[in-house]
Amino acid sequence: MKIYYLLSAIFFLSSGVMTILSADESRPGNYYRSVWHPVHFSPAINTATDEQCLSCHQEVINQKVLSKTLAGVTAESTQAWYQTLTTYEGPQETFHRRHLVTPLAKKLMNLKCITCHQGSDPREQAPVPPDLNNTNYTLRKQVNPEVCLMCHGDNPYQLMGLPSPWEESSEMFQNNCLLCHSGIRTHRHQVNYLNADAIEEAGKENSDVCFGCHGGRQWYRIPYPYPRHAWEGMAEEVPEWAKDRPTESEPRFQLNQLQAHK
Ligand code: HEC
Ligand code: HEC
Ligand code: HEC
Ligand code: HEC
Ligand code: HEC
Repeated sequence: MKIYYLLSAIFFLSSGVMTILSADESRPGNYYRSVWHPVHFSPAINTATDEQCLSCHQEVINQKVLSKTLAGVTAESTQAWYQTLTTYEGPQETFHRRHLVTPLAKKLMNLKCITCHQGSDPREQAPVPPDLNNTNYTLRKQVNPEVCLMCHGDNPYQLMGLPSPWEESSEMFQNNCLLCHSGIRTHRHQVNYLNADAIEEAGKENSDVCFGCHGGRQWYRIPYPYPRHAWEGMAEEVPEWAKDRPTESEPRFQLNQLQAHK
């Protein structure tokens, strides 16, 4: 019996090793070669196109949600709190589709795979053994959540001088962000992952468009500390809360970056 186990263990081990050793480097579709493909890591990922990623990951766009959970709840009959804004439309969709291909996403945004996926190597990012002096690792997360925070943070109504959260005070301002923002912080959304003009157009019709990304789909308890671009008519004096703010968007998001190309 023992010998049987030993033999089968040797068999499984060696067949595993053989699979790795026989990995023909030049053969397309090789699993290990694909997993460790340089395009997954910096620097290649910094300029990778969606087409490159999708040549192997088409499923990210194709997959649909189940029509029913195992317990029998239908997708049709379910709505989450963040799906109650007036801008929400269509049937339930996957996370990737909601950010890349559904109508609202396509209209307002220009997200690329590499806007969120900056390349992560678990071997590099999770020091073994874990070390208290080295806590600054993304630790196996594939995406830095700060990216999400940019569009899913709290609405900083206090620093706007609003008397209460937007849900309560919006009527006082005619449900219209542009009542103030046609003159304040008007240099906005000039980044390669947003469609700035389309956002302004849509925001004129419906402030839920604006609120959606600035508090209306809040996943975090904190607001994002946006860069504070200079605008026409801006006062010289910088308010206290804005003293440490950058005045330009993160370099990799700026419009002149290579990333802007499809
Ligand atoms: C040559 C094919 C190929 C290309 C090109 C490719 N990938 Fe992958 N990728 C893979 C394979 C294979 C895996 C491992 C999947 C698994 O084990 O389930 C993987 C894993 C991943 C994972 C982790 C998935 C998980 O479940 O652990 C992410 C995220 C990912 N790829 C994103 C990207 C992005 C973004 C790009 C473009 C910059 C890209 N990939 C380009 C083949 C590829
Ligand atoms: C809005 C940000 C965002 C965009 C844009 C994005 N992803 Fe992802 N992706 C994520 C997050 C978040 C996860 C889950 C990561 C985790 O589990 O750590 C993920 C997971 C994945 C995975 C793992 C398998 C899965 O489906 O969970 C693959 C593969 C992947 N993404 C590929 C892509 C490709 C290819 C593109 C471009 C067509 C893309 N992603 C665009 C945020 C994004
Ligand atoms: C550039 C802005 C932007 C970024 C960055 C972004 N999102 Fe979103 N997210 C949106 C918008 C817009 C919607 C609403 C789409 C709709 O209602 O059709 C949304 C919707 C969602 C939803 C709801 C999906 C659904 O089916 O209703 C989740 C969950 C979500 N985002 C999580 C994330 C996470 C996690 C990240 C970071 C990996 C992220 N988002 C990054 C703009 C963004
Ligand atoms: C009563 C006028 C007023 C209204 C209404 C208003 N804002 Fe503001 N908003 C401001 C002021 C003032 C600032 C700060 C300007 C500065 O940087 O000095 C600001 C700042 C912001 C910022 C930048 C925050 C930061 O931390 O840098 C965002 C984002 C924003 N507003 C979005 C909105 C959205 C979305 C709405 C509608 C849901 C809205 N605002 C409604 C006056 C207003
Ligand atoms: C799809 C998500 C999205 C929508 C819709 C959106 N914003 Fe933004 N907004 C962002 C992001 C992301 C930034 C930070 C961009 C950067 O790095 O400069 C931003 C920045 C801002 C800023 C700071 C400007 C600066 O740089 O000084 C203001 C003010 C603002 N938005 C107001 C609005 C208003 C008003 C609307 C509606 C007309 C709106 N937003 C719609 C995502 C969004």
